[in-house]
Amino acid sequence: MNIRWLGHSAFEIKSDEGLKILVDPFISNNPACTVAVEDLHPDLICVTHGHADHFGDAMEIADRSGALLIGNHELSIFFARQGMESRGMNIGGSSTVQNVKITMVDATHSSDIDFMEEIAAGGSACGFIFEMEGGKKIYHAGDTGLFGDMKTIIGDIYKPDIAMLPIGDRFTMAPHEAAIAAEWIGSTKIMPMHYNTFPIIEQDPEYFKNLVQNRMEDTEVIILNPGQTYKE
Ligand code: NI
Ligand code: MN
Repeated sequence: MNIRWLGHSAFEIKSDEGLKILVDPFISNNPACTVAVEDLHPDLICVTHGHADHFGDAMEIADRSGALLIGNHELSIFFARQGMESRGMNIGGSSTVQNVKITMVDATHSSDIDFMEEIAAGGSACGFIFEMEGGKKIYHAGDTGLFGDMKTIIGDIYKPDIAMLPIGDRFTMAPHEAAIAAEWIGSTKIMPMHYNTFPIIEQDPEYFKNLVQNRMEDTEVIILNPGQTYKE
């Protein structure tokens, strides 16, 4: 599989069988993003919550590519009312697209649809676990603070191989909390996200890497530049 970071919390995950999944497609207004909306052709778009820096260009990309939109129940109703094909889920549930199983998990954050003139309720913010065809699991935490179920549910039950964790502080975990999250989740590979997009969430990913490796020396912290792809 290939994992391309598009900056902020936007990732494109390409499965071995060719399924292209776009997570939190904040592209056109994302100062860190190096690709254009027109260059993305996903089969599936997963949105962790309704905030503009995650919802992003989801509808425009879905409209152009015919991608299926996945979000919580409230977001899926919103998508459907805009005439888009969508699939609603909720915390603890799974849904399969081709041979990739998607599980919606908790995130400790808020979620409204905040880019409309009238702010609409957006249900609960979430994270996703993608179980790829070969069995590898990728956890995208969305926006979240540290919470205990990262250990008891995400770590002990789902056991993701790769975890994408926000480290920007202010709206999410900071490096210190994210390093604890990394230990609780127990993934062998950690990718920091949601930092350095704006001055307000400026962080040094190498500092985060040191914090993680001080706790668990065998954990690999994969620091990508926006636009860069990790392959395995
Ligand atoms: Ni948010
Ligand atoms: Mn955010």
